[in-house]
Amino acid sequence: MKIPSNHILVIFGASGDLTNRKLVPAVFDLFEQNLVPDNFAILGLGRTQMSDADFRIKMKEGIQEFASKHNHDSTADDIDAFVQKLYYYAFNTKEESEYAGFKQRLLSLDAKLNTGNNFIFYLATPPSMYTVIPCNLAKEGLADEENGFKRLIVEKPFGYDLETAKSLNKDLLKNFQEDQIYRIDHYLGKETVQNLLVTRFSNGIFEPLWNRNYVSHVEITSSESIGVGNRGGYYEGSGALRDMVQNHLLLLAGLVGMEPPAVITSNGIRNEIAKVMQSLRPIKEEEVENYVIRGQYVDSTIKGVATKGYREEQGVNPESRTETYVAMKFFIDNMRWADVPFYIRTGKMLPTRVTEVVIHFKPSPHRLFADKSGMQHNHNQLVIRIQPDEGLLMKFGMKTPGAGFNSQTVNMDFHYSDLADAYLPSAYERLLHDCMLGDSTLYSRGDVVEAAWEFVKPIQEAWKKNNNIPVHGYPAGTWGPDVADDLIEDKRQTWRYPCKNLANDGNYCEL
Ligand code: BG6
Repeated sequence: MKIPSNHILVIFGASGDLTNRKLVPAVFDLFEQNLVPDNFAILGLGRTQMSDADFRIKMKEGIQEFASKHNHDSTADDIDAFVQKLYYYAFNTKEESEYAGFKQRLLSLDAKLNTGNNFIFYLATPPSMYTVIPCNLAKEGLADEENGFKRLIVEKPFGYDLETAKSLNKDLLKNFQEDQIYRIDHYLGKETVQNLLVTRFSNGIFEPLWNRNYVSHVEITSSESIGVGNRGGYYEGSGALRDMVQNHLLLLAGLVGMEPPAVITSNGIRNEIAKVMQSLRPIKEEEVENYVIRGQYVDSTIKGVATKGYREEQGVNPESRTETYVAMKFFIDNMRWADVPFYIRTGKMLPTRVTEVVIHFKPSPHRLFADKSGMQHNHNQLVIRIQPDEGLLMKFGMKTPGAGFNSQTVNMDFHYSDLADAYLPSAYERLLHDCMLGDSTLYSRGDVVEAAWEFVKPIQEAWKKNNNIPVHGYPAGTWGPDVADDLIEDKRQTWRYPCKNLANDGNYCEL
């Protein structure tokens, strides 16, 4: 693994949760693996007044709680040595006049630590700051790469819809070049998401089958067992379509659907993902109801404990129609996937947290054992488990021992946890390290983001204009509205349910 050049990681919004829970612990994990350069610092920025010492204490707590404990036994000394690399500067990032003071602090740190004028700016701020900060950085000459690299990491959401995404991209590109911009989609940083590419393109056995001739349909699920918690305010303006589908799930579909790139380079891979996004068959506004189901969790009892409905959550409108669940069907109109349905679903307060891709293969053309076996409608499945219990599962039919020719479905199962060296770096660890190295392969490119927004646009429009499109209530702890099953074209098939409903009442009601 390469060690990046000396640099300073500047975090805007450093007094927020993301810095404390994800970013600093991830950099600490890199530090423990000797993957940060000798001359390195994190400069945290925020409005909250804090000294370097205060910031170090706060970050130390975050590291103790959230850094990975799997690959190293960090000692208190390690943490103390690491936090010496952390600095803090309080300023109001909305005020143009305050950037000169910040620049002075940054450059004096750079001179002291000999970090070569190499800076990564991480925007861990509300999206309203995404144009203000880069513009002010550029005015101070801090986007200029003549002397040292200048990279900008932007957190999602990248816009709120197609128009705002386009205008955000336009604004960013006024001050930074596309190759300086790193749009984080943390799903791409997950080890097993990257493994999708390796599984597909390094094995002779999968790729020949990976097309319309052998695949009946593709299913992608990303379920969460928690609700919106204290993020109700944010979620009200977002909903599952923006929060999960437009970015994480469509990217997963992109990786499943893409052609092999000529070379594994940043643009090699991203060009292929972009082609998939451009090939998504548009869903007409008037047909949205036939392709997309939205739902919202209602109060329920899970394992005997009463749980709140979404409308009772803090920061949520008691009459909210924001969706906490989306299931949809779509097609990729190209030679490989013509007429193969892709089904994706995501939701909060479902029975378990699981993200998986399931490739459903067509059944054998001649069903010798069809009548006796119970395999009649069971197709082979390849389950790529992204999280938790990361791994691969192949389901196939085998003869049931004994008389006759009955068959049963059995599993060939690989778990990452079985590997001797099973350390899976966190998504942020991987992505931050890549950015430090200047590798944007696992970051979203502007055109890919826009194409994904373009695809969801008619859904957003239909939901906005047509109140008759139902928001189906589903009891927390169930797999969402039953009507989602109607999306599946082959009526002998259902979604894959990795575990049963947990709620006592499995019915759904309409809001
Ligand atoms: C985030 C969403 O992008 O992804 C959250 O904003 C969601 O609402 C989270 O909970 C899920 O990520 P993961 O890694 O837990 O699957």
